[in-house]
Amino acid sequence: MSEELSIIQGSKEEQYQSLIPQIKALIGDEKDRIANLANFTAALKEAFQFFWVGFYFVQKEELVLGPFQGLIACTRIQKGKGVCGTSWEKNEVLIVDDVERFPGHIACSSITKSEVVVPLVKDGEVIAVLDVDSEELATFDAIDKQYLKELCDWLVTII
Ligand code: SME
Repeated sequence: MSEELSIIQGSKEEQYQSLIPQIKALIGDEKDRIANLANFTAALKEAFQFFWVGFYFVQKEELVLGPFQGLIACTRIQKGKGVCGTSWEKNEVLIVDDVERFPGHIACSSITKSEVVVPLVKDGEVIAVLDVDSEELATFDAIDKQYLKELCDWLVTII
């Protein structure tokens, strides 16, 4: 396993296409869920310089903070609350161009301007969400949705 990411210049799509095999190699046949999700968040943040990347796990009627990279964050989020809780409730990828325009957005940090939340779905049930935050407005688009969803669908098979 290489312990350095190779970060390429190029389009966002090319960057994801370069990053995905590296993340898969980094995780390799490691089975520890926390180790794998921790390295996943570090790789994604380093590759794209996102402001915050992390997981929340579904525990009963709440989301509970999991491995993340970035500033300290809210520990628990109720179902249906904020972008994360709404993504969980709807079992849907949510892209928010301007968090101030999302009713009920939970501002863990006032620096976050836009975000994408991707549910991790196992046997039809959301078991966690991936939250990625940006300091810029409208950072995330259909390309992020496609590749982050692909990554989350794969993560579900290995965690
Ligand atoms: N903004 C999120 C909360 C999580 S933090 O940004 C890390 C939300 O509205 O669900």
